[in-house]
Amino acid sequence: MLSTLSLDELLVMCILLIFIACKSDPVIPDGGLPPEPPVQDPGLNNPCEEGEISFQHQVLPIMISSCAYSGCHDPASAEDDIVLNNYENVRKEVSPGNANNSELYESITESDSDDIMPPPPAPRLTSAQIGIIRDWINQGAKNTDCGAPCDPEASAFAADILPMLQNYCIGCHNASRSDGGVNLESYDKVIPYVEDGSLIGSMKYEVSFAPMPPSGSRLSDCRIAQVQKWIDEGAQNN
Ligand code: HEC
Repeated sequence: MLSTLSLDELLVMCILLIFIACKSDPVIPDGGLPPEPPVQDPGLNNPCEEGEISFQHQVLPIMISSCAYSGCHDPASAEDDIVLNNYENVRKEVSPGNANNSELYESITESDSDDIMPPPPAPRLTSAQIGIIRDWINQGAKNTDCGAPCDPEASAFAADILPMLQNYCIGCHNASRSDGGVNLESYDKVIPYVEDGSLIGSMKYEVSFAPMPPSGSRLSDCRIAQVQKWIDEGAQNN
């Protein structure tokens, strides 16, 4: 039968078939679309300009860890109709160029403990984290994805490791919310996960551990190198 078709007719059939194949509706699983796969911070491969804040790799990790978890501002819970899991959604809560006029910034700097976000007993954002969010809004609230500043040689616990854990991990792993039974709030709490290999294993997305953070932005190779160096040098409380 094929031999009776002209080349033109075959071409039309092919185009029709492709059209039909592409028109079928996408299948959306129960419970909504799966979370977007984490993107890795490019770090020193594509560093931010001096002072420029990376939305994807500085602001978003704080949102994922401290706001967008279940029961609060993840897509399924959407408390107060606010979702803070990606750029489009976070952008709706800010007024670009004007942190002081942005609902998001007001909520994290609120003096009234009934209104402050995240709500107690969740730990408050640190002043460094509040500064990152303020600067990002004042710089125009753009969807920047340059690499966050990072020195691979800097690996002191207090100055380098703990602030990174604060931005990427502690919102889900603290005394009041310890996902997976894990608390990473302080040096003593972190050490058991250094000893069993799960701290670095989860950050490196090694198959035998749950990948961490589970969504948003993955740590840059530079940050992982800092943690590896800190561990190799004895995981000191320095
Ligand atoms: C959005 C919340 C969230 C964030 C952010 C997060 N975690 Fe987790 N973490 C979880 C959950 C949920 C589990 C339990 C997962 C499981 O067992 O499958 C977990 C489990 C773990 C475990 C145990 C893993 C294992 O396989 O034994 C470690 C270690 C851990 N997280 C470290 C981290 C580190 C380090 C970061 C930051 C780089 C981080 N987490 C960021 C939610 C989070």
